[in-house]
Amino acid sequence: MPDSAAKDLKFAWHPFTHLKYAPKNINIVSAKGAHYFDEHKKKYIDGISSWWVNLHGHSHPYLIKKINQQLKKNAHSIFSGFTHPQAIKLAERLVSILPGQQSKIFFSDDGSTAVEVAIKMALQFFHNKNYPDSYRERTKIIALENAYHGDTFGGMSVGARNAFNNAFSSLLFDVVHIPVPFKENRTEVLNKLKATLIKNKCAAFIYEPVIQGAGGMVMYNKDVLDEMVALCKKAGVICIADEVMTGFGRTGKLFASEYLKNKPDIICLSKGLTGGIMPMGVTSCVEKIYKAFITDDKTKTFFHGHSYTANPLSCSAANASLDLLQKKETLKNISKISEAHEKFRKKISGNKQLKSVRCLGTIIAFELKSKENSGYLHSAAEKISEFFIQKGIILRPLGNIFYILPPYCIKMKDLKYIYSEIENFLKTC
Ligand SMILES: Cc1ncc(COP(=O)(O)O)c(C=O)c1O
Repeated sequence: MPDSAAKDLKFAWHPFTHLKYAPKNINIVSAKGAHYFDEHKKKYIDGISSWWVNLHGHSHPYLIKKINQQLKKNAHSIFSGFTHPQAIKLAERLVSILPGQQSKIFFSDDGSTAVEVAIKMALQFFHNKNYPDSYRERTKIIALENAYHGDTFGGMSVGARNAFNNAFSSLLFDVVHIPVPFKENRTEVLNKLKATLIKNKCAAFIYEPVIQGAGGMVMYNKDVLDEMVALCKKAGVICIADEVMTGFGRTGKLFASEYLKNKPDIICLSKGLTGGIMPMGVTSCVEKIYKAFITDDKTKTFFHGHSYTANPLSCSAANASLDLLQKKETLKNISKISEAHEKFRKKISGNKQLKSVRCLGTIIAFELKSKENSGYLHSAAEKISEFFIQKGIILRPLGNIFYILPPYCIKMKDLKYIYSEIENFLKTC
């Protein structure tokens, strides 16, 4: 075993990694564009944008330049009682491009904390407001079955109950989970939601708009979701769009909430926010929510914040990433990837090994047919990973579901290579 692998094994504990059977971790020493390079100079195509974060490619010179400029000015300053130009600029820009009437941006560290902030904001909104008691008691949260909203306790509570959070099940707060909406179960879904809204004192409805990522790239019905959001809004329930995965162009629109007529009251963002180069999460909210926190009563303050809130380097990366995202060339690349995916979907959709192939914007997902239930712990995961790693492609499967979610800078040559290796892989099944 090379020294690096032995030391890694000895000292590092990797996320979402089965410690007994996982193969040794590949030591990535550099990354450029849509490629990773390991310590043996082997090249890999990053088919999953480094866990869905990377938008413009690794080591993008513009992002590096902007972060370097900021590094020389201010690497970090406290964000309570103080502010800084990059945060002000970013907040203004996000408010101007986010769907709905978003008016304020709250900064945090990652997707999970962006969700945690959203949940606390929504619950405290009802606590703070001088509503009649029936409103103040609104604490129930509605979520979708099969959802994933992160690994903190709030995020786990609103997520599906599964192996990810089994160990903590007795400690998670109670949530009403509604089936994922499709055309076929529209009536069932809407009836369950209506009954929930009548029976419970509901505070918020949280959803990954249009596509559930970690739940298996499940692309569901946007029209039924739209009706659900409308029903919740009518009942005074705060709607939270978790756009941690879908934000910044992944679904073909800048934000997936743009597919809906009814816009969220709160939006969670992370992953692509900084172009995938610095950690940061944000939670936006409409003015009505912010206003509930403006009160003479100090106990109604939003007591939440992290040491690195609105880190200036992260904010400068996010501003630089937005500069790139808004370029015509990037939007063209998003369209090109979406068109190529759709073409490949049509080509491969009759394949006998596939239960389903689905695509939305820059995401294409393949679900292998199997006697086992589909899901994250499906035994096909290791075979899929291993095949593609050998071919120099990084596609991290969700059990028997694998997908391409590439950085927007990926070259057509690389995308076509991934498609052809997927066809080769299916021949081995
Ligand atoms: C929809 C959604 N919400 C929240 C999260 C959690 O984000 P993070 O891993 O940055 O904490 C994820 C991560 O995959 C996600 O897909």
